Amino acid sequence: MSSEAEELFAKSPAAAAVSWLMNPRILLVLVSCLLSVLTGLALSRRGAEAPATRTRPLIGLSMDTLKEERWQKDRDLFVAEAGKLGADVEVLSANSSDTRQLADVEALITRKVDALVIIPKDAAAMAKAVNLAHQAGIPVLAYDRLITGCDLDLYITFDNVKVGELQAKFLADRLPATGKMRLLRIYGAKTDNNAKLFKQGQDNILQPLIAAGKVEVLHEDWADDWKPENAKKIINAAITKHGPGFEAILASNDGTAGGAIQALTEEGIAGKVLVTGQDADLAACQRLVQGTQTMTVYKPLHLLSQQAAELAVRLASRRPVFARDVSPNGEVDVPSVFLPIHAVTKDNLRETVIRDGLRSEKDVFGR
Ligand code: GAL
Repeated sequence: MSSEAEELFAKSPAAAAVSWLMNPRILLVLVSCLLSVLTGLALSRRGAEAPATRTRPLIGLSMDTLKEERWQKDRDLFVAEAGKLGADVEVLSANSSDTRQLADVEALITRKVDALVIIPKDAAAMAKAVNLAHQAGIPVLAYDRLITGCDLDLYITFDNVKVGELQAKFLADRLPATGKMRLLRIYGAKTDNNAKLFKQGQDNILQPLIAAGKVEVLHEDWADDWKPENAKKIINAAITKHGPGFEAILASNDGTAGGAIQALTEEGIAGKVLVTGQDADLAACQRLVQGTQTMTVYKPLHLLSQQAAELAVRLASRRPVFARDVSPNGEVDVPSVFLPIHAVTKDNLRETVIRDGLRSEKDVFGR
């Protein structure tokens, strides 16, 4: 303690305490502690009545679909992580139907789950599900995709804008020496808030290059339901309109990249066009090795599922939860957790998806 402080303390401990408190750094620490405790308390108040008299918390997991490979992994990892934390999980998948997903949530509410985890098909349509859950005193965690227009409790995902930036940056680093890059763009499902965030990230990188005449977008469209066959149709339409003379396809995930590459294969130009992706699906990792796809974005699902399980079990047992970030969803600033992501090419498959055990050397390289 500095000599002045000692002097002040000798004179009057109260004055010393006040001047100590007025120290901006001390003040900042105190305020942020207070804030996170308040957030935690507000969240733990949701459904203050004791969860159903179960020995183990029961979490309801409502999924949009299991059609993409990653969601099957998310489900298995999440159930296993929740199990390690002493919780049971009831999983329902809506097979890409909004009405079915709402019915699934209503069924889980009737089951009196202690907390709900929702991967929404339609960001806006699931607001009704959140309101129904709150009427039953059940807190809701949105997993990977945001639910908009409601008083959502919590959100955990990856840095989705950065996903788009990594995809576009990969192409920006490979502009043709002469002339400009002629580009086709495939966005995700319009109902998925993530698809808009990926596009936003891509635009952040592309806009200046387009303005500078270094990139020209020949054709762009949204792939309904993220379906590969819809992505293939977009590329077929682009080739019909513009011919095969383009350098790159900015596909927003591996599923749509796969559909696009089918169209390129039919045209005999697969491997000659740069193609981006996301999710590090097994098929995409194999395409990186073959050279028909050029990059993907790896999202460590083991981290997402592990942290989501921790948050869900805390919500289910009405314990405070802490989230450093927020996501405005049009109604509230949703307390949020954002996880890191990695760009993957054939050159760093071993240091990323194979090192983390998402893929095996044998599956990817076939030996
Ligand atoms: C997004 C998700 C991506 C992708 C896509 C299709 O919301 O973040 O990883 O897989 O859905 O399911």
